[in-house]
Amino acid sequence: MQMHTDAQILMQDVSFTYDESASPALSHISAKIRQGEFVAVLGHNGSGKSTLAKLINALYIPGEGNVVVCGYDTKNEKLVWEIRRRAGMIFQNPDNQIVATVVKEDVAFGLENLGVPTEEMIPRIEQALSAVRMSKYADSAPHTLSGGQKQRVAIAGILAMEPSVIIADEATAMLDPSGRKEVLETIQMLNRSKGITVLWITHFMEEAALADRVLVVTDGKIQLEGTPAQVFDQVREMKEMHLDVPPMAALADDLRKEGMPLPGGILTVEDMVREVEKVLCPLKSAT
Ligand SMILES: Nc1ncnc2c1ncn2[C@@H]1O[C@H](COP(=O)(O)OP(=O)(O)OP(=O)(O)O)[C@@H](O)[C@H]1O
Ligand SMILES: [Mg+2]
Repeated sequence: MQMHTDAQILMQDVSFTYDESASPALSHISAKIRQGEFVAVLGHNGSGKSTLAKLINALYIPGEGNVVVCGYDTKNEKLVWEIRRRAGMIFQNPDNQIVATVVKEDVAFGLENLGVPTEEMIPRIEQALSAVRMSKYADSAPHTLSGGQKQRVAIAGILAMEPSVIIADEATAMLDPSGRKEVLETIQMLNRSKGITVLWITHFMEEAALADRVLVVTDGKIQLEGTPAQVFDQVREMKEMHLDVPPMAALADDLRKEGMPLPGGILTVEDMVREVEKVLCPLKSAT
């Protein structure tokens, strides 16, 4: 049974506890994520980000409240595979996600579990590898690939299942800067060209700055929420949660305190140069 809702991911007053003697990992979380949104999730270690991801993927079922993904309530055990196919997850360690000894077989793995007929599998694997620009490695052994390439293979494995949502739990944390860039760019491209909804859990502020919306989780609660500009302008609140803001947002905050009339929403060096120029040379920047 599918519920009708305008949100692709709906969390209604969700609480989750691992261990009854400890405080809940998540308490009274409510959130709505629309189709095609790119939502970043920030939060310090142990704040509850991975628990949130696993609740959406139906790996965990909420103790209280409801999680509804693509109209399917995760509490309904019969829907677990429907939900996992629609909301695929990639994790931090690229090596833990590879199950086969040949790239194309690794991408086939999820399809085999879904019982997709062989003749249908081949074009789906080819399309998925092409979408992540890994076609030429279809017959390669995964261990010969870089971390970024392995993560792209993991993404292809999800794509082959034709998902509506991709949840990435610190998918770039173990990669070098070029691997991080290629994985993030791949996900952004899938978000824009295929309208796939993205939930991007990260510790990198500069990655969160690229999202449509940012959720900040602290102590199992969503403490801040808004566009990157709205969230990163709250420098004091972020510091209280032991979180950084992008360097230019912090500098803008310092300059404002020194009396420079800078507007909000400065996240990048380009934003800073443009706004400082407006303050220092108002006539020049008007022309
Ligand atoms: N399997 C588990 N059993 C018991 N407690 C757990 C388990 N997994 C997580 N926790 C606890 O639940 C809370 C939230 O953990 P979670 O892994 O969701 O945080 P996180 O934000 O993903 O952290 P990190 O940034 O370190 O990945 C923490 O207090 C953690 O210790
Ligand atoms: Mg985590």
